[in-house]
Amino acid sequence: MPNTEKSYTIIGSGRVARHFSHYLSLLDIPHFKWSRKSSSQKQLEEKVERSTHIVVLISDSAIEEFVRRNKLFSERVTVHFSGSLVTPFAHGAHPLMTFTEKLYPLERYLEMPFIIDEGRLRFHDLLPGLKNRHFRIQPELRPLYHALCVISGNFTTILWDRFFEGLERQLGLPAEAAFPYLDQIAENLKDRSLPALTGPLARKDLSTIRSNLRVLEGDPLQKVYHGFLEALNIEIRENS
Ligand SMILES: NC(=O)c1ccc[n+]([C@@H]2O[C@H](COP(=O)([O-])OP(=O)(O)OC[C@H]3O[C@@H](n4cnc5c(N)ncnc54)[C@H](OP(=O)(O)O)[C@@H]3O)[C@@H](O)[C@H]2O)c1
Repeated sequence: MPNTEKSYTIIGSGRVARHFSHYLSLLDIPHFKWSRKSSSQKQLEEKVERSTHIVVLISDSAIEEFVRRNKLFSERVTVHFSGSLVTPFAHGAHPLMTFTEKLYPLERYLEMPFIIDEGRLRFHDLLPGLKNRHFRIQPELRPLYHALCVISGNFTTILWDRFFEGLERQLGLPAEAAFPYLDQIAENLKDRSLPALTGPLARKDLSTIRSNLRVLEGDPLQKVYHGFLEALNIEIRENS
């Protein structure tokens, strides 16, 4: 194992592996890449031999088994980016960001914080060369942390996709018509001094809520609407 310069091998060729490799390149941090699609086990071992840090960016369910199988990893700092996984086989460092197929500019990567576990290595030892903000949480709070990430990021994406599709397909309007609305909601949410929620749920306008529910009859989103009413303690009786 090299004992001077820190050096990375990134495992995987999915979205996050591509983004992280791009980030390291933008920072001029040299690194090896390995994925099961493009390289052999022998090539993996050669790269790992020459690395101090292994960043395992593969599907959550495959991480533990993959790290356990590759004995060479145990002599190196092994890191995964899963938001929910806590394992003795690798350190968790979750980038609080969403990664799609499209790569981002350097500024976006620089501003994303990493969430790491209390009681494990320091951030600079986990991901040397990165100056990102980082926060520690108790490992047992990770499932809650990740569930909240999914609710906020993934659920809103599903809702907005459905809105854009409805505008285009059902109403014949361009999705872009809603972009200023989306931007202002994000702005309002970031201003923590004022409540961001507006509309019939904020006003507890029961007749409008009933009308919304009626038009969603037969749509699975009607149940989602009821779920939000329940979360906000708004009681709505049928035919009342
Ligand atoms: N996407 C996000 O927004 C995001 C955000 C934060 C953290 N993360 C975390 O980042 C990690 C990677 O997520 P992703 O979104 O990049 O996933 P992804 O795009 O679905 O890519 C998954 C990768 O895992 C590889 N893989 C799966 N099983 C494997 C195995 N048994 N051995 C070797 N390689 C295997 C796949 O290889 P093949 O292509 O050969 O199948 C693929 O390269 C996950 O831990 C995830 O929780 C993701």
